[in-house]
Amino acid sequence: MRTIIMLYVALLIIFATLDFSVHSFPFSQTRLTTGIPAKFLHITDIHIDPYYRPYTSPAFSCHRRSLNSPNTALPYGTVGTPCDTPFITANATFNFLHEQSLVQFVVYTGDSVRHDRDKLMERTKAEVEEGNKMVVQWFVDEFVKNGIAVIPTIGNNDVYEHDFLPPGPTPFLNTLFHIWKPLNLNLTSSFLRGGYFRHDIPDSPLTFISMNSMYLYNVNGLVGDCTEGTIGWEMLRWMTGEMRDLKGKERRVAILQHVPPFDAKGRIAYFPKCYEMYVDILGRYSDIIIGHFAGHTNDDTIAFVTESSEGYKMYPVVKEEKPANNSNKNVVLVLNNAPSVIPANNPGLRIYHYATSPHNYGHLLDYVQYYVNMTQAHLVDSFEYEIEYTARDAYGLESLEPKEWMKLLREFEQDDSEAWKKYCLYQTVSETDG
Ligand SMILES: *[C@@H]1O[C@H](CO)[C@@H](O)[C@H](O)[C@H]1NC(C)=O
Ligand SMILES: *[C@@H]1O[C@H](CO)[C@@H](O)[C@H](O)[C@H]1NC(C)=O
Ligand SMILES: *[C@@H]1O[C@H](CO)[C@@H](O)[C@H](O)[C@H]1NC(C)=O
Ligand SMILES: *[C@@H]1O[C@H](CO)[C@@H](O)[C@H](O)[C@H]1NC(C)=O
Repeated sequence: MRTIIMLYVALLIIFATLDFSVHSFPFSQTRLTTGIPAKFLHITDIHIDPYYRPYTSPAFSCHRRSLNSPNTALPYGTVGTPCDTPFITANATFNFLHEQSLVQFVVYTGDSVRHDRDKLMERTKAEVEEGNKMVVQWFVDEFVKNGIAVIPTIGNNDVYEHDFLPPGPTPFLNTLFHIWKPLNLNLTSSFLRGGYFRHDIPDSPLTFISMNSMYLYNVNGLVGDCTEGTIGWEMLRWMTGEMRDLKGKERRVAILQHVPPFDAKGRIAYFPKCYEMYVDILGRYSDIIIGHFAGHTNDDTIAFVTESSEGYKMYPVVKEEKPANNSNKNVVLVLNNAPSVIPANNPGLRIYHYATSPHNYGHLLDYVQYYVNMTQAHLVDSFEYEIEYTARDAYGLESLEPKEWMKLLREFEQDDSEAWKKYCLYQTVSETDG
């Protein structure tokens, strides 16, 4: 394993040297590299459960033993069950991050807190707030204190009651505003109104738009579809205004959502009008969007935004449905859904490489998908992240630009496509027994 990592690092160094092109870079900040590809971390769905106990029953959320169901909870987490993340697993994840070489920033797409699945131990408001606070503290200690920006989004389990968030201002958004304060983000009145924000990285062309998927997600019974005047509509109108401004300023934009537009089976997860509006915004501003990052489903999937004479459409790629031949799909944007830390599948986290030359700043070049083989972890009683795959090597891509993914889509369409087999295996983080 070590040899592979060293080889990989060596290749990266060679690659970095080849790509070296520092002209008169207009943005000066000491930590922002120019020319040399830089890295960022995408981590999602940590779901820490302080009540998790090994050798209890998944039927009781891995909290208690059962007399009539198997007590199969394992020390590092129990794959393929509704159980959340044991402390040691979350802890080992941050230890792993501590050992990684510097990333430029961190994208955290939410869900710090456990699910509310145990009827005998329902979450309290205080527990939800504490859970949010604890994870923010970890990010602050590991990254923010070292000058590395951490950009979060609100998860559907980070709110109390889970899945339900009314339009702001609300006491919860106010509390979260204070919990997120140590992250030093650009939380303005829009955050108190709806939990969404724009954050420009100083002296850099990069901007983050952190959306609040709670106002689009079709299970949030406290808001409706995005008809005029609703909070979802208001948020998307705000987004459009920001995108117009960002385009005028020639900035590059990374978009964060917790809940992606599709679930793991490829079904639409947003209210119909919200979905339609959102797809249209992504399509229209695809030329300034460097990436769209979400979590929630625990699965490793992509979705395409395509353009045709009928406008923009979205097309999720999931293992249930092998792409059929259709050479007309003109991909303008790719949405990346990263797998979770929670051991629903094998736990995973992802490090992206991006270009920093003035002409292509922010273009995604590759990602390294890390995972923990949970069977192996329990076999040897050691929880170790290793590389599951890298996008370029696994799929033969030259970069993560839409045209490269479109080539891959053509490959998926072939009979007996090897690339498709890999995609299906990686969707569940190489978890094959579950
Ligand atoms: C990990 O666990 C140790 C010992 O229990 C604790 O001191 C430390 O704060 C934990 N770290 C994190 C990131 O949880
Ligand atoms: C902060 O957010 C506001 C409102 O979205 C936006 O107008 C402004 O440009 C942002 N500033 C920075 C530095 O991100
Ligand atoms: C799709 O097209 C390829 C050739 O490009 C062909 O080999 C394959 O059989 C076609 N598949 C279907 C389902 O039509
Ligand atoms: C995970 O580990 C088990 C036990 O060592 C092994 O049988 C399995 O092939 C591994 N899975 C992957 C995807 O490497």
